[in-house]
Amino acid sequence: MKNILITGGAGFIGSHTAVELIEAGYGVIVADNLSNADTTCLEGVEKITGQKVPFYQIDCCKKEDLRKIFTENRIDGAIHFAAFKAVGESVEKPLMYYHNNLLSFITLLEVMVENNGGAVVFSSSATVYGQPDSLPVTEDTPRKPAESPYGNTKQICEDILMDAVKAHPCLKGVILRYFNPIGAHPSALIGELPRGVPNNLVPFITQTAARLREELRIFGNDYSTSDGTALRDYIDIVDLAAAHVSALERMTGHNPDGSCEVFNIGTGKPISVMELVEKFTEVNRVPVRYKITGRREGDVEAVWADTSRANKVLRWKASRSVEQTLANAWAWEKKLRGIN
Ligand code: UFG
Repeated sequence: MKNILITGGAGFIGSHTAVELIEAGYGVIVADNLSNADTTCLEGVEKITGQKVPFYQIDCCKKEDLRKIFTENRIDGAIHFAAFKAVGESVEKPLMYYHNNLLSFITLLEVMVENNGGAVVFSSSATVYGQPDSLPVTEDTPRKPAESPYGNTKQICEDILMDAVKAHPCLKGVILRYFNPIGAHPSALIGELPRGVPNNLVPFITQTAARLREELRIFGNDYSTSDGTALRDYIDIVDLAAAHVSALERMTGHNPDGSCEVFNIGTGKPISVMELVEKFTEVNRVPVRYKITGRREGDVEAVWADTSRANKVLRWKASRSVEQTLANAWAWEKKLRGIN
């Protein structure tokens, strides 16, 4: 059995990825400092899979702490999610973002090189494309200068992995550029648990439907889109998690030249903010109060993925419908809040 270290494995994407990996026959070890998560989702992973998941509450910036994991376990690869992810906060606290997001990744790579290397999946984001000149974006669409320190850390970490794989033949790398991950596991045992007021659209919708928030603000209806609201590519969290299994398989066999490959992970279908809100209401038969406000600073008008490279090379494709995904998101929120 291959053992995979998941840094940030207690979080939204990390916990869903842990489930997919375990179900695909991998051994999973989780490292997380719980700075933006608690153990709820880890417990959910164990309930879904019926397996105990070794968990290290450590800060990945601390080399000694990471070394301990490699001493106590044979690690064949790592998926790196451990990072701060709030765009606005990164503008206010750039040094904290650069320190944490860069140092944790560099430290992980250093410790892997000390331990005979392995396969590395880096969690990148569609944010690296900014507002692209043409749509959909392929992996060859040029990256735009980052709009925030958060976005810049994604670009820098992509470059770090590319350089590290070139210099250290013991390392293999894949970069996954996620579009907008939403939803929850169909069991409703794991899902998104934002701390405080959610920044992202779907948790804000589910919390408004659950009456934790008075109303959703739709940021702008004056974009050049059919209904004036912004377009995104919303990808089901379980589909996205499954892409990590495909990425690991790609590195353990089929990549002929050992280069660090990049893949867009999305559905390839744009949906507007308004359409998503309407679909949520329709599918779940629950009202969501909203009002239209001004645009949010830093938002792009439209971005969606060309996923043909991932479809072909990783043999991965998003398969869940957005209706199914929004039903899962609501089931998770209801369970959290004790709503019938
Ligand atoms: N939106 C609202 N109201 C809200 C929240 C969001 O109208 O309360 C809109 C946004 O303006 C945007 C869309 O919903 O048009 C999606 O917004 P999210 O915040 O859910 O997602 P983003 O597309 O802004 O975020 C993505 C990734 C981030 C990344 C960011 C960079 O999820 O990781 O792009 O811009 F940092």
